[in-house]
Amino acid sequence: MLPGEDARAGEIPLMRRGWEFEGRKTLRVCRPRPVSKSQGKFAMQLTDKNRQDLWKAATQALSQAYAPYSRLRVGASVLTANGHIYAGANVENASYGLSLCAERAAIAQAVAAEGPSMRLKAVAVASSQPGALTPCGACRQVILEFGSAALVLFPGEEGLLEVPITELLPHAFRLSKEALPGEK
Ligand code: THU
Repeated sequence: MLPGEDARAGEIPLMRRGWEFEGRKTLRVCRPRPVSKSQGKFAMQLTDKNRQDLWKAATQALSQAYAPYSRLRVGASVLTANGHIYAGANVENASYGLSLCAERAAIAQAVAAEGPSMRLKAVAVASSQPGALTPCGACRQVILEFGSAALVLFPGEEGLLEVPITELLPHAFRLSKEALPGEK
């Protein structure tokens, strides 16, 4: 176990109506072990309050979704290294491919508020569909850009999963230093 880590993978109470997990008053958090020692070393630690605040912000945000085409409303929230929470919802378009996912909308809010040095501690995703919903591949790449140690919370089959982004996106695309302008 890591220093300061809460070993319990258990129930956290959800206090207010409107942000339950599928009608349940508690949220079962399934916390998988860190993937490797090196990831564990840098892995973020979340408190139950962090989880509750993230889940509340994500579920509240999904009511703001603009999803007339898929009818799937998605809400996302992010916790930044500065300790602030920002939220976003999916925004669809008649030209379907232009649709924006909730995770990227929330990240854009965080960058707009904190600037280019914004770093992610955690991202939570909630949706109007019952059952599991995992962040899409494009959003995984964007989450990684702002926090390689970020934790991602999303509904699994049996409860809320909390998974490091590097586990959701192994062998991720990264630019080499040499490929960046001005780095040669
Ligand atoms: N969507 C998200 O907002 N996040 C994801 O990670 C997966 C998909 C949205 C995009 C679109 O508006 C709707 O869900 C159906 O794909």
